[in-house]
Amino acid sequence: MTIRKVARLGHPVLRQKTQAVPLTDIGKPYLTNLLQDMLETMHEYGGIGLAAPQVHESLQVAIMNLSPEEDSEGLESSSEEKKISITVFINPTITVLDQREKEYWEGCLSIPGLRGMVGRPRQIKVEYWDENGNKKVLVAENFLSTVIQHELDHLEGVLYIDRMKDLTKLTFIEEAERYHQQDDQDHDTAD
Ligand code: NI
Repeated sequence: MTIRKVARLGHPVLRQKTQAVPLTDIGKPYLTNLLQDMLETMHEYGGIGLAAPQVHESLQVAIMNLSPEEDSEGLESSSEEKKISITVFINPTITVLDQREKEYWEGCLSIPGLRGMVGRPRQIKVEYWDENGNKKVLVAENFLSTVIQHELDHLEGVLYIDRMKDLTKLTFIEEAERYHQQDDQDHDTAD
């Protein structure tokens, strides 16, 4: 496995619409290697999700740790358990189930040092293929809904700053913690 360099805001790969993965490619070495590298890169950079364009691969692939709230509670979890909680999304599509928005602070490994408040639909359904080629359906609410939408936006060339309605809520992390996040310190995504 290799830790890959993360593309930062301004790199064109972050703004490209990604290509679908041919389903017959699931399990092929190039894709398995990509997923392993993304996992290692995400852990190295400390994110809770990572999309393929962030490691310069314009493919419809994203990985996420879907138990971030447990982690933020400081619960002990071994690296083995963390691996198990990682979900792989290949060729995902989103359906909004409840479009009423919920706001959370978001961050992005491709926009280091910043946080921004973003409102997104609070309940979604995601259909995707996993790393074994199985079709999956996942319904997510609230914080997880936001995390998934953030990651899957990357596959469309969209970044969280594009979704912000109030740019006064775009801040450096230190200032966010100092001036903005007193009321919702737990709601913080970094992916
Ligand atoms: Ni991101």
